[in-house]
Order: sequence, then structure tokens, then C-alpha cells
Amino acid sequence: GSNQLVYRDQTLQMEGVCIDTIAGAVPTPFYCYSSDAIRTAYLTLSAALKPIGASVCFAVKANGNLSVLGLLAALGSGMDIVSGGELERAESAGVPASKIIFSGVGKKRSEIASALEVGIHQLNVESEAELDAVIEVAGALGVRAPVALRVNPDVDAGTHAKISTGKKHDKFGISFEDIPALYAKALAAPELDPVGLAVHIGSQILDLSPYRSAYSRIADLVRSLRSQGLPVRRLDLGGGIGIPYDHGSSPDLGEYAKIVGETVGGLDCELTVEPGRWLVGPAGILVAEVLYIKETADRLTAIVDAGMNDLMRPAMYGAVHPVFPLKQVRQGSHTYQIAGPVCESSDIFGTYSDLAPLRSGDRLAFGCAGAYGASMASTYNARDLAAEVLVDGDRFRVIRRRQTTKALLTLEEETEWHGSPST
Ligand code: LLP
Repeated sequence: GSNQLVYRDQTLQMEGVCIDTIAGAVPTPFYCYSSDAIRTAYLTLSAALKPIGASVCFAVKANGNLSVLGLLAALGSGMDIVSGGELERAESAGVPASKIIFSGVGKKRSEIASALEVGIHQLNVESEAELDAVIEVAGALGVRAPVALRVNPDVDAGTHAKISTGKKHDKFGISFEDIPALYAKALAAPELDPVGLAVHIGSQILDLSPYRSAYSRIADLVRSLRSQGLPVRRLDLGGGIGIPYDHGSSPDLGEYAKIVGETVGGLDCELTVEPGRWLVGPAGILVAEVLYIKETADRLTAIVDAGMNDLMRPAMYGAVHPVFPLKQVRQGSHTYQIAGPVCESSDIFGTYSDLAPLRSGDRLAFGCAGAYGASMASTYNARDLAAEVLVDGDRFRVIRRRQTTKALLTLEEETEWHGSPST
């Protein structure tokens, strides 16, 4: 975790706020983020990238909360979006369209149109069929679409298979060999302004060497395109920088910048990176309450009131989020399996050794939950979407109220039948 999370008088605090105080006002489970951690992360990253002149577009998918986006926007961050919904979020947070890049493998025509209408900085195109759709939509709107082609560099990011995107059989990007012809096609289309290339090899990358391979291949491609008379002025280097969850350490950003500099630095291109997790992951926790302690044949299980619908990462990727009791009041070291209430065998946060004895009513915080936590949550089992809280110094406020079943039920009110009743 980040140093914004500390124990003072055996009580877990985020910045100057005692988490238990928040839990007194906001029912568990809830997410809680440190503004200071997000600000510090952004400033640290932009400082590291300054020597290579790369700008930052935050990957909204990691955490799309309006206040979180607003915080980053105020620092000057651009945004990387993957849907019309994320476009609405980025715009609502006050991000100018000139700082928004639209990535993603399956953009609908309506989403392409919305992006072009607001004057988006760049659309990253992932197939020839999508390129044709952009030509069609831009033509209908009478605008010239700034497009980058997303390259699949066929590089193994060395990360979890479910978050690896840069191998040739992954669904993402356009294969290396197909880029020149497509780039030429884009250049010939009056509806398009081909601005450059994009690449993203995967997520939660702790060993930086795959970046070197991918960026070197991109550099070769830029040189080859240019030699064919195809101009390339921008490179979008993707996101993916990992964070330590239960082990390891964060990659050295200076080393990352060095790799960028040595591979694509001399090409005289505008450079952008699209980190999500690194900026917000360590800044967030998910706070839950222990409902029951259950002793089964071979283990002690603590059932908590947060589940896989709130934080899907353990069930989906086998991720292990560190656990911090809100109060360090008891002594001892026990092993607990921590499980959620959802009716799925995979609703398990993990098995944690070295925990002080737990009792019903104790509260826990799962660390490193600021990225892909709330943004991936669902209402499975008709569970409310958890509230989100932002801490700033000695204050906190709710930045998203709990979404209740009552609110969702209004979407399910009876509507008129279409068609005729069967006889
Ligand atoms: N750019 C593109 C095109 C992406 O697809 C992604 C993430 C990012 C940037 C940001 O990657 P980051 O810096 O956050 O690693 N739900 C998974 C992660 C999925 C990432 C998908 N794409 C998880 O919880 O680990």
C-alpha cells in the first residue's frame, strides 16, 4: 500500500481520517480513495516522463468516478476512453476533447460519431472494418477523423493471460504486416487524418522488458512507414505499468522512461502513455465488515459483507489484495480464509496468514483496490453497488452514493408489449 494508509494508535487512517469514522457514517462495504495518493502518483509519473516529453492520458476504465477524474483533470491529465459512456464521464469531469483518446476494439458507429462531434484528439483503430466505419461516420458528419492504428506487436507481456493483449492471437490490434497497407489506405481517404500508431501490450506488468521489445518493434515500423512516404507524428504507448499487490515492487519509472527514450525517443513523435492502475490502484481500499466466523473441517473462514460483485479481481484473476484490520486490538497470528456472501464458490478474497483473531463486527480494508474495483463491480445477487468515498487531508466526502435496488427497480417497471400476443 501507499504511505497515505497508516496505523495511528492502532487505528487505520487514510491521510488524516480514521477509516472507522467513515464506516460510522457510510455503511460497509464502501470504497475509499486518498486524493493525496492520486495526486502524488500523477505528479511522480509526469515528472518521470518529462525528460522524454510524454504526456499522460489516464485510462478511465480503471476508475471512472467523476471526482477521481476531476482530480486528475485538474492536474492536467488527459484521458483514455473505451466507450461513449467513458466519453461522457471524461467530458463531465471537464476534460477537453483535445486531451481524450478513444481506444477499444469494438466502438459502435454512434460512439464514433459522438467522439468526432466533440472533436476528439484521436481514435485508435483496431481493424480494417473499424477503419471503414470511421470513414463512413466522418464522411456523414463532414469532418476529418484523427486516427491512429493500434499495432499488435506480438509480444508476451509476461502477465496474467486474462489481461495480456499484445500476442498475435489476442483480439486486440492490427498485425504488424497489415499496418503499412492500412496506413496508406487511411492516408488516401479524405475523411481520415492518420496521425500515428498505438500499442498496448497488457496490464499489471512488473517486468519492464516486454515494453522494450514492443517499443523497438514500433520504432522499426515507424521507420518503415516513413520510408514508404507515410507520415507518422504521434505514438500512443499504452498503459500497463503494474503495482505490487501482495508481493514484488513497483517498476522503476526512470527505467521505463529510459526504455521509451531509447526505443522511440529519437523519432520526433508526440508521445502519450495511458496508465490506469498505476495512478489509482494503490490509492484505494475496499472496507468491509466481518459478518461471521465459521469453522469448517480444515479451516477458519471469515465471511465479510463485501463480495466478488464489489471486487471481482480475486475471483477473476486470482489476485490477492492485502488485508488491513481497521483496529489492531488483539494479539496473535491466525490463518483465515476470507470469503464474501455471494452464492459462488469463487467468491473468496484469499487465504491470509498472520491475522490477529477476527470477530464478528470487526472491520477490514482490502488494499490496492483503487483500480478495477468499483469500475468492475456488479449488482449480482441484487447487491447494491457500494458507495465511494474520497479522503482529502482531514476530511472525507461521499463521491458516489450507494446504488440501491430500489433505484434499479424503476428501470424494470412494466412497459408496453411490442407485436401481437401469441394465440
Ligand atoms: N490502454 C489500453 C488500450 C488498455 O486496454 C488498458 C487496460 C489501459 C490502457 C490501462 O492499463 P493499466 O495501466 O491500467 O494496466 N481488469 C483488469 C485489468 C484490465 C486492463 C484492460 N486494459 C484487472 O483488474 O487487473
